[in-house]
Amino acid sequence: MERFDGIKVTWFGHSAFKLQSPNGKVILIDPWLSHPKAPKDALSSLDRVDLVLVTHGHGDHIGDTVSIARKFNPIVAAIYEVGNYLSSKGVSNVIGMNIGGSFDFEYIRVTMVEASHSSTIIDGGRSIPGGNPAGFIIKFENGFVVYHMGDTGLFGGLKLIGEFYKPDLVLIPIGSLFTLGPENAAYAVKLLDPEWIIPMHYETFPALTGKPEEFRNQLDDKYKDRLIVLNPGETVS
Ligand code: NI
Ligand code: MN
Repeated sequence: MERFDGIKVTWFGHSAFKLQSPNGKVILIDPWLSHPKAPKDALSSLDRVDLVLVTHGHGDHIGDTVSIARKFNPIVAAIYEVGNYLSSKGVSNVIGMNIGGSFDFEYIRVTMVEASHSSTIIDGGRSIPGGNPAGFIIKFENGFVVYHMGDTGLFGGLKLIGEFYKPDLVLIPIGSLFTLGPENAAYAVKLLDPEWIIPMHYETFPALTGKPEEFRNQLDDKYKDRLIVLNPGETVS
């Protein structure tokens, strides 16, 4: 079944995704691949990484970015302040950007959009300002648009993001406490009106109580069939 126009999507649990473009380019988003629910071979299963996108400075999103960058030397894009932090940790190909800005990678256009959250980096007990939190819009060479929302609550700009970027696939946090939970995430889906929905940022720890079944129940009927619930390590295309 060709839901995603030749794009392969792997969820590693939490907010960590691998997107493979029709041309075989590998993009990682928020690559925390060593969390409690991640497949044991998540890191070792990677054989190439071309681009890493980091939504904000929290440890569960920067995750394994530094070690992955050391191994594969990808371009790493994040908000300016998180980019500076990553550079200071020895990441060499950093693109520091900001909300509303885009860059082109091969034939893929990456745009940073707003998220309603926080972004302080904790490094060895020290707090470092991480700029604003963000989400990413990734428009592939064939026009397919993925929106990774990062960590966010509900905010009015979601309607604008839906109208302007017309995401085909939305990766949406549903765990609650730190982000959207099932009920307000279901409302966010109405604002975004995507073709496909994959929930994330749930069940990694007991504190993330939102469940995909609850999210499905909260979704308007027209979106229930668009929900794709994955297990960590699973790939869909
Ligand atoms: Ni966060
Ligand atoms: Mn988080």
